[in-house]
Amino acid sequence: MVTELAGRGADGGDSITGGEPVAFVTGGAGPRIGAGLCRALAEEGWHVVVADLDGFAAEQVAQSLVAEGLSAEAEQLDTSSRDSIRESIGRVLDGRGRIDGLVNSAGVGQMTPADELTDSDYERVVGIDLRGPWWCAQAVLPEMKARGKGSIVSIGSVHSMATMANSSLYAAAKSGVAGLTRGIASDWGRFGIRCNVVHPGLVPSAPELREMEDSNPGNGWWLQHQLINAPIAGLDIGRAVAFLLSDRAACLTGAELVVDGGLTSMLTELSPLEPRPQDGGERT
Ligand SMILES: NC(=O)c1ccc[n+]([C@@H]2O[C@H](COP(=O)([O-])OP(=O)(O)OC[C@H]3O[C@@H](n4cnc5c(N)ncnc54)[C@H](O)[C@@H]3O)[C@@H](O)[C@H]2O)c1
Repeated sequence: MVTELAGRGADGGDSITGGEPVAFVTGGAGPRIGAGLCRALAEEGWHVVVADLDGFAAEQVAQSLVAEGLSAEAEQLDTSSRDSIRESIGRVLDGRGRIDGLVNSAGVGQMTPADELTDSDYERVVGIDLRGPWWCAQAVLPEMKARGKGSIVSIGSVHSMATMANSSLYAAAKSGVAGLTRGIASDWGRFGIRCNVVHPGLVPSAPELREMEDSNPGNGWWLQHQLINAPIAGLDIGRAVAFLLSDRAACLTGAELVVDGGLTSMLTELSPLEPRPQDGGERT
C-alpha cells in the first residue's frame, strides 16, 4: 500500500528526471531516530517515503510532515522479508519513477549475554539489522544503476567500534553493516552509487530523555558520558544523513561518520563490569 499524502511539489531536484529527489527511509517511524531523520530530509527538500513495519506510525509521521507543507508518503514494509521489500520499493518506483536515496534505519536491539543467545535471536537481529540493509540495497540497485546515480546510507552504531556487556549480537550485526557499506561502495561506485554509514551514539526517545534527566538533574549523565553536554536527537542524525545523501558529499563513499557527541572519543566506563570469578569481589 502506498498512501500518497500530498506534498510541497517539485522544488528543483538534481536528477535527470527532475522534481524532488526521493528518499526511501526504512524504520522511518522510529521515535528515537527514524522520525527525526525523515524530518531532516524533508526539510532539506527531499520527498520522503516513511517506510516502517508499523504502517500506522509511518502514516502519522508522513502526515505530520505534509501538514507542515513538506513532502512525504507512508509505506508499510517488513525488512526481514525480501518480498515485502521488493513490493514496497516497486510501488514507490511505480509512483515516483525513482529512488535517489536509500536510508537503512530499521533496526532492533538485543541485550543478552553471549552464552545465552539463541538461534532465533541471531535470526531476528542479524535478519533485520544486517540482512535488511543488504536486501534493500539490492532492491534499489537496478533503478539507481540505470540512472547512473544514487546514494545509500545505513544507520550503524557506536557498538561497531566498542561495545558493552550483553551486546555481542547487536555489535556483530552493526559491525557487519560497516563492512557491508564498504563492500557496496566498492562494488557499485562504478555505477555512480555511493554508500556510507552513520554511527549514532545514544539517541533517546522523548520519554527516555525525561527519565534520564529526572534521575540526573542538570544533565549530569551527558556531562559524564559525552564530550558535548547535550542529548543527541533523531534530527541530529538526520542532518548527518542528509549531508551524506546529498551532492555535497559527492566524494564520500565507504565512509563511517560517527555522530555520538564524543562518546567514543573518551575512555569511560559505560556499564559496571562484572567481577572476575577469581577476584571474588568488586572490579575496579
Ligand atoms: N537510539 C539509539 O540510541 C541508537 C544508537 C545507535 C544506533 N541506532 C540504530 O538506529 C536505528 C534506529 O533505531 P531507533 O533507536 O530509532 O529505534 P526505534 O525502536 O525507535 O525505531 C526503529 C523503527 O524500526 C522499525 N522496524 C523494526 N523492525 C522493522 C522491520 N523488520 N521492518 C521495518 N521496520 C522495522 C520499528 O517499527 C521502529 O519504527 C536502528 O538501526 C538502531 O540500531 C540507534
